Amino acid sequence: MTTIADRFRLPCGVSLKNRLAKAAMTEQIAGPSHLPNEGHVRLYKRWAEGGPGLIITGNVQVDRRHLEHPGNIVIDKKLGDPTMKWLRAFASAAQENGARALMQISHAGRQTPKLINPSPLAPSGIKVKLPGDQFGEPRSMTTAQIDEVMGRFVLAAQVASEAGFSGVQVHAAHGYLLSSFLSPLANKRSDRYGGALENRARPLLHIVERIRAELPEDFILSVKLNSADFQRGGLTTEDSLRIVEWLEEEGIDLLEISGGSYEQPAMMNMDGMEKRHEEGKAESTKEREAYFLSFAEAVRERSNVPLMVTGGFRSRRAMDEALEGGACDVIGLARPLCVRPDLPNDLLAGENEAAKAYEKSLAIGPGVLSPRSPIKFIKALNGFAVMSFFYENIARMADGQKPVEEMPLLRTFIKQQKQTAKMARALRS
Ligand SMILES: Cc1cc2nc3c(=O)[nH]c(=O)nc-3n(C[C@H](O)[C@H](O)[C@H](O)COP(=O)(O)O)c2cc1C
Repeated sequence: MTTIADRFRLPCGVSLKNRLAKAAMTEQIAGPSHLPNEGHVRLYKRWAEGGPGLIITGNVQVDRRHLEHPGNIVIDKKLGDPTMKWLRAFASAAQENGARALMQISHAGRQTPKLINPSPLAPSGIKVKLPGDQFGEPRSMTTAQIDEVMGRFVLAAQVASEAGFSGVQVHAAHGYLLSSFLSPLANKRSDRYGGALENRARPLLHIVERIRAELPEDFILSVKLNSADFQRGGLTTEDSLRIVEWLEEEGIDLLEISGGSYEQPAMMNMDGMEKRHEEGKAESTKEREAYFLSFAEAVRERSNVPLMVTGGFRSRRAMDEALEGGACDVIGLARPLCVRPDLPNDLLAGENEAAKAYEKSLAIGPGVLSPRSPIKFIKALNGFAVMSFFYENIARMADGQKPVEEMPLLRTFIKQQKQTAKMARALRS
C-alpha cells in the first residue's frame, strides 16, 4: 500500500524521502535587485524543517522585463559571487532536512503587470481580459525573440544546477508565457509556433529537450502544466494529454498538474469551480478534495510519467487514497503551508484533518462582498485580496516570525498594493 510516507524514485535516479511536496509559491521578497537574500534562506529553512520530500521555489523569472511581481528573483545571466553565495545558501537551506529542491523557472509573458511593463512580449497581441486594467497591451514575439527566451530558460537551469538545486521546474501553467503559447485563445500565430498543437507546444518542448541534453543526467526536470485552461476555445484536456505524451518522450522526471490562469483561476478553486473541473462530478471532487484528479487518471491511461497533483489536498485520507488508487505519485501542497509550515511532519505523524487553517481569511466580506459575488469586479478583487493573506504570511516567515491564521484582508491587500507600486516605480526609475 502506497502512503505519503513512502520514498519515491524519479526516472533520473534521485529519490524523494516522502510523497509530500511544497508546491511553488511566489515569495515576492527579492527587492529591486531581484537577488536571493537571507529572507529566502530563512523561509526555505522553515519549510524544509516542516518535512516535505520535495520543495519547489516560487517562480524565478528568466527576464527582468517580464516579472510576475517586482519582488521576484531574476536569473537572466550567469551570476558572480557574492550573489551565487546567496543562491547556494538558498538551495542548501531548502535541502538541509533531506528534501530535494527544484527552482521553478518562468517568464510572465502577457501576465506581466502593467506597472512593470506596459507592453510585454507574448505569442500574440492579445491582452489579458480582466477588470481593473492591471495588464498592458502585449506585443507579438518575433521568432528571434522566441529563440532568445528559450535560451534564457536553459541558462537559468544551468545557474540553478551550479547553485546546488536538485533540478528545475519549467512553469508552463497558469497563463504565463509558455502556457499562453499552448492556448489557442492567446496564441493566434500562423508560423511554426502557432496553429497546430505541436506548433504551440514547440517552445516548451524545445526548452525541455535542451535542459535534458545540457544538464547532468541526475538533474531533476519537472514541468507544471495545465490540465486545461477552463475557457471556451482555450487549451483542452485532449490537447493537454497529448502534450503529456510528448513530455514523457522528452524524458521529464515529474509532471505537476494544475489548471487555469488569471482570467480563470481554476488552480485556486476560488469560487467553487469544482463542478467545471470534474464535469458534474462535484460530489466526488468534494470527497477526493483535489481539483485535478480526474485529469490525473486520464494521464495514467496514456502515459507512465511520474505525476504530482496540486490543488485542494487537505487531509491525509484523501492524499493516501490518491496515492493508493494510483492517480498520482506525489501530493502538492501550497496554501496550507503558508499557515502551517509543519503540516507535512504532522501529516506524516498521523494527523488527518489538517489543512483548512486559512479558512478565516478567504473573503473581503460576507454576501455580495464574498468571492461568490455576482459583481465581476468584486469577484476579481477578492481573488487578488485573498492572495495578500498568503503573501503576508510568506513575508512573516521570511522575517523569522510565525504565520497567523487571520488578518484584515482588505487592509493587507491595500498595504501590499502600495508596496508593489512603490517597488515597480523604483524598478522603472
Ligand atoms: C501565495 C501563492 C503563490 C503562488 N505562486 C505560484 C508560483 O510562483 N508558481 C506556481 O506554479 N504556482 C503558484 N501558486 C499556485 C500553487 O502552486 C498551487 O498550484 C495552488 O495554490 C493550489 O494548491 P493548494 O490548493 O494546495 O493551495 C501560488 C499559490 C499561492 C497561494
